[in-house]
Amino acid sequence: MRRIGIGLIGSGFMGRSHTLAFRAAPAVLAPAAVPVLEMLADIDEPSAAQAAQSLGYSRATADWQALVRDPAVHLVDITTPNALHKPMALAAIAAGKHVYCEKPLAASAADATEMARAAQQAGVQTFVGLNYLKNPLLAAARAMIEGGEIGTVVSFRGIHAEDYMADPLQPWTWRLDPAGGHGAVADLGSHILSIARHLAGDIVEVSGQIATVVAERPVARGSTAMRAVAVDDQARALLRFASGATGSIEASWVATGRKMTIGFEVTGTKGTIAFDQERMNELQVFTAGQPRGREGFRTILTGPDHPPYGQFCPAPGHHLGYNDLKTIEVAAILDALAGGPRFAPDFAEAARIQACVDAIVTSARERRWVSV
Ligand SMILES: NC(=O)c1ccc[n+]([C@@H]2O[C@H](COP(=O)([O-])OP(=O)(O)OC[C@H]3O[C@@H](n4cnc5c(N)ncnc54)[C@H](O)[C@@H]3O)[C@@H](O)[C@H]2O)c1
Repeated sequence: MRRIGIGLIGSGFMGRSHTLAFRAAPAVLAPAAVPVLEMLADIDEPSAAQAAQSLGYSRATADWQALVRDPAVHLVDITTPNALHKPMALAAIAAGKHVYCEKPLAASAADATEMARAAQQAGVQTFVGLNYLKNPLLAAARAMIEGGEIGTVVSFRGIHAEDYMADPLQPWTWRLDPAGGHGAVADLGSHILSIARHLAGDIVEVSGQIATVVAERPVARGSTAMRAVAVDDQARALLRFASGATGSIEASWVATGRKMTIGFEVTGTKGTIAFDQERMNELQVFTAGQPRGREGFRTILTGPDHPPYGQFCPAPGHHLGYNDLKTIEVAAILDALAGGPRFAPDFAEAARIQACVDAIVTSARERRWVSV
């Protein structure tokens, strides 16, 4: 079986989640290639060595460029702050490596498009960590929509709301670095826009609104020195889809009390499908034509009829978790690298999502509808 040398750059939240997935995928989902945890790079030698040791990588380095060049690394996995995605991905592509990169792919649609083109010219495969698309219930929702179970889609309403930046004393972080692009509209908006596109198709026009709620933040926890915030904390947009459907999205990292709301409601002429990531094993479905006085949404729970759930657990209703979505994502990447089905979303799709993000920001700043 083909062996894929993994070179991980960054060992924070996502670096650990990706590694869990590389470890779990062969045991749970038996992909067509075996990942080999070859090398880990982080900001300095001690943190790289410590992370490599605890996560199980054979070698550690403080020089990500050495990792990218290393002949035993076949897939460069980028889980660093957003501003670093582009230089790291372009260097990996130039070295002929396949690239798995976290979202948002780049600071702008122009950068993301440049990365997608470079990958295409180099003939390497690309993969983006928009893991919520890998929920088996998303596949079920899409199949129901494509099968006409809710009729013609007329509306998509989406939200991604969390509250990890709601406290004004939460210090300045790389997430607020304009070199990495926009704020919540890119960080969280990229997820809900990916779902909107997945379920309702191309977005052709947007009318956006963005706001910075906390204008300055401490430079470090407990510090009285402040640093200005130049990106948005919350964003909204009205959407027009190519199909003629209309919709809206919201993205906020200051949504006090909301921990992991990725919610959507797709409404069709004959029914509605609704979902919330805080209850990620439930799909709410309403279909028209029920007896009067008995109408209502029904709840579909994940189970073995929603592949690949059954490979995690033979019994329905026992629930998948966040890291299982990453395991599904990683198994699909390994299959694609072994010549299996093409992986989505790739850099080209992430560039289209980024184009929606950029259009929302332009629309908000210029106070007009903007074509994507
Ligand atoms: N898909 C998701 O659900 C999801 C969730 C959280 C974060 N993300 C994305 O993942 C990326 C990382 O986020 P995170 O929460 O893991 O961040 P984090 O701050 O927890 O980790 C970032 C890591 O990158 C390392 N790093 C920074 N500069 C480096 C350099 N020059 N060379 C090598 N390593 C360097 C840091 O030391 C750290 O280990 C971001 O793009 C973020 O948007 C995605």
